[in-house]
Amino acid sequence: SFQTIDDLEPGQRLLVRIDVNAPVEDGVVQDDRRFARHAETIRELRADDHAIAVLAHQGRPGRDTFVSLEQHAEILADHLDRPVEFVADTYGDEALLAIESLERSDVLFLENVRMCEGELPEEEPEIKAETELVRTLSSEFDAYVNDAYATAHRSHASIVGFPLVVGAYAGRVMEQEYRANTAIRERAFDGPVTMILGGTKAEDTIPVIERLADIVDHFCLGGVIGELFLRADGYDLGYDVDGTELFDHQWEAHSETIRDSLETDATEVMLPTDLAYEADGDRAETAVAGIEKQTSYLDIGSETIDRYTERIADSEAVYVKGGVGVFEDERFADGTVEILSAIADADCVSVVGGGDTAHSIELYDLDEDDFTRVSIAGGAYVRALTGESLAGIDALERGSRG
Ligand code: 3PG
Repeated sequence: SFQTIDDLEPGQRLLVRIDVNAPVEDGVVQDDRRFARHAETIRELRADDHAIAVLAHQGRPGRDTFVSLEQHAEILADHLDRPVEFVADTYGDEALLAIESLERSDVLFLENVRMCEGELPEEEPEIKAETELVRTLSSEFDAYVNDAYATAHRSHASIVGFPLVVGAYAGRVMEQEYRANTAIRERAFDGPVTMILGGTKAEDTIPVIERLADIVDHFCLGGVIGELFLRADGYDLGYDVDGTELFDHQWEAHSETIRDSLETDATEVMLPTDLAYEADGDRAETAVAGIEKQTSYLDIGSETIDRYTERIADSEAVYVKGGVGVFEDERFADGTVEILSAIADADCVSVVGGGDTAHSIELYDLDEDDFTRVSIAGGAYVRALTGESLAGIDALERGSRG
């Protein structure tokens, strides 16, 4: 078990790690779901007179979504209905100056922690605790609060480093998401369980098939993982085209696991039989037999949608991780929206996760109340389902033991 913010004395200087990593288009944040949740934690901390510096990330170096957190500070301010100061620095002189002038109930937002050396490579907590980032910031605060459940599966400095050097506490979002997602794993069902796997981070979902084969009867694949499985099945797709870097590195790292999962008898793995692409500005569809390596496929096709929604209608429980197409573009939202609508209409237990997937519910006016649970997390949520430990939770537990 770990300490939570209930265990904090009032009036402390706190470093609060949150996860407001969001879909970003042309540099602009598209979804504020995570902000709304973390604002609740921060509101509670402010009420207890704490001085708060917020640490967060956005995107990864090399991606279009890797941007400054200046607008994130503004969005958080809107949710808190009070000013949030932003400093374009994370632990350098400018940041330290701003941290030193923090008064009780103030909220300061530090720059994207993934711009700092030492944050990103996956390494042991002991190594992370020695980084300049962790050393410098930990000496400025009385305690560290980790509210970033959606990043709890990453062994990054801002997640696993601090609990080794400063008192560490779970925030409300961390506590609530962790408990709810662990509870899902413990539920047993008599009828069929179906899981929809999509999104772009196939490395987070590929291992899930083997690990959940005993509880999931049907996996329905779309998005990047769908294409990689079709590639393993001998089709000419799932390659980087048009300068995208989505497929080849994930293929190289996971093709063996994909082949094993494709041959498994322990569960049914369903792949798209048709796909959608863009032709003259419109949506066009093709059977997988007719696919071409140089085309970008952006959604599952209508026949696949029918096959998947039939499975959903027969299921007692449905888990979703990731959209099955590029749903941000209305032309390629059919797969994701029809699947979510089928789940909303079905008489089943349903859990939807995926960093950006929850955004599709809002974007297409679906009702969140039609689902049993919508997690704001992606990778951390599927890891909780498989019963795998989360580096961020382990670190909080170690911190609590002192
Ligand atoms: C997420 O959105 O799933 C988390 O913020 C983690 O982001 P990452 O997959 O880039 O580590």
